[in-house]
Amino acid sequence: MKPVKVGLLGLGTVGTGVVRIVEGHQEDLASQVGSPIVIEKVLVQNKSKARNVSMDQDKLTEDPWDIIRHPDIDVIVEVMGGIGLTKEYILEALSLGKHVVTANKDLMALHGPEILAKAQENRCDVMYEASVAGGIPIIRTLVEGFSSDRINKIMGIVNGTTNFILTKMSQEGASYLDVLKEAQELGYAEADPTSDVEGLDAARKMTILATIGFRANVALEDVSVQGISSVSKEDILYAKRLGYEVKLLGIAERQDDLISISVQPTMVKQTHPIASVNGVFNAVYVYGEAVGETMFYGAGAGELPTATSIVSDLVAVVKNLKLGVNGMQGSLAYKEKKLKTDEQISSKYFLLLKVADRAGVLARITQVFADFEVSLESVLQQPTPSNPEVEIIVITHDANKAAMKKVLASFESLDVVHEVKSVYRVEG
Ligand code: NAP
Ligand code: HSE
Repeated sequence: MKPVKVGLLGLGTVGTGVVRIVEGHQEDLASQVGSPIVIEKVLVQNKSKARNVSMDQDKLTEDPWDIIRHPDIDVIVEVMGGIGLTKEYILEALSLGKHVVTANKDLMALHGPEILAKAQENRCDVMYEASVAGGIPIIRTLVEGFSSDRINKIMGIVNGTTNFILTKMSQEGASYLDVLKEAQELGYAEADPTSDVEGLDAARKMTILATIGFRANVALEDVSVQGISSVSKEDILYAKRLGYEVKLLGIAERQDDLISISVQPTMVKQTHPIASVNGVFNAVYVYGEAVGETMFYGAGAGELPTATSIVSDLVAVVKNLKLGVNGMQGSLAYKEKKLKTDEQISSKYFLLLKVADRAGVLARITQVFADFEVSLESVLQQPTPSNPEVEIIVITHDANKAAMKKVLASFESLDVVHEVKSVYRVEG
């Protein structure tokens, strides 16, 4: 049995996991694919750096072309991250007929269509299960498990860092900045956490999921993005009192052929299964027209969970190799993309307003909602220490985004509204 030779680009957290799984599960993997899988060469930046896994020094290289142009390497596993150089390496590998497995959500969200087109042109596979929700096999589920259905909604907690922060804020009543600092000390949050806390990482993952789920090429610019840096412990307290948890949700929705994709902190009813996903865990809720509600839960990152997805992709590529069917899965995004306008995007909203405490104020506020045909589900008023001011909490019925923007613009010029403290989408 001729071994299948793999070139690994990167030997950091995920690369180390890939080596451990390929070596540790070698017998099972070989039985499944019919030949041994061998890691032939490994690209690193610095060959003399200490490694967390034993690796023959001769296999390490600092020259990417040693791997990409290696005549015996069949599959490239890209776990080095980055966009510019990495794209160049992957395109070159594909043009040389090598299959690619990658964990790179940044690259796939920005350049997925170009990379997949190049793969098709060269009859190569490109697989990227690990790029979204680490160890959860959500991409294969959408592509294969739900190939018979039409997906109407994908709702995901796809960023572990922000879920860790929001969970701690909810469970301990701590402030955003205190928990962020703790997350950085524990190594959950990066020294520069912008991409995670401002929702960009989740937006990239939702771009990938929406493209696959709705079979249309969604671009990163199509995702409306808001992060968690303005979520206060007071917001979370109010949410809990009303029976909600605050979660950073990626939400992709389809009605007829119109779609919308967003990432925002969202108040989720505590009875919804996604509200109980805590800590660094990820979950993806999928609603299919025929199947109804489903939910997938697991580790969204980490050495071995992420490597599990990568090695499963590797197995799929090698099985295709044996069958001679690489690059023949056809286009995943065969539908025209039609985005909803703000008038067509609808959800419930939570608003926390600080308003003057005098006769007629509530009537003036509810009139603004009425002016733009936003119907209210509940209204709660309570005194604050700063007299004469009260807090009003409003939960709307389903309202369109354009109407809500007009409501908020009207509050800016309404003298009795001192502050629109918070606005959240509501789910569940
Ligand atoms: P990492 O720990 O920083 O490892 C990156 C590896 O790539 C290192 O071995 C580094 O070499 C090598 N490398 C980076 N740039 C290079 C270059 N220009 N030339 C040669 N080698 C280079 O990263 P990671 O956490 O494993 O993440 C890898 C990828 O997986 C990223 O795309 C990430 O978004 C994705 N991902 C990660 C996770 C996770 O849990 N970490 C989960 C899902 C997806 P040196 O070791 O010599 O520095
Ligand atoms: N920064 C990401 C997260 C890593 O927190 O989920 C996994 O993609």
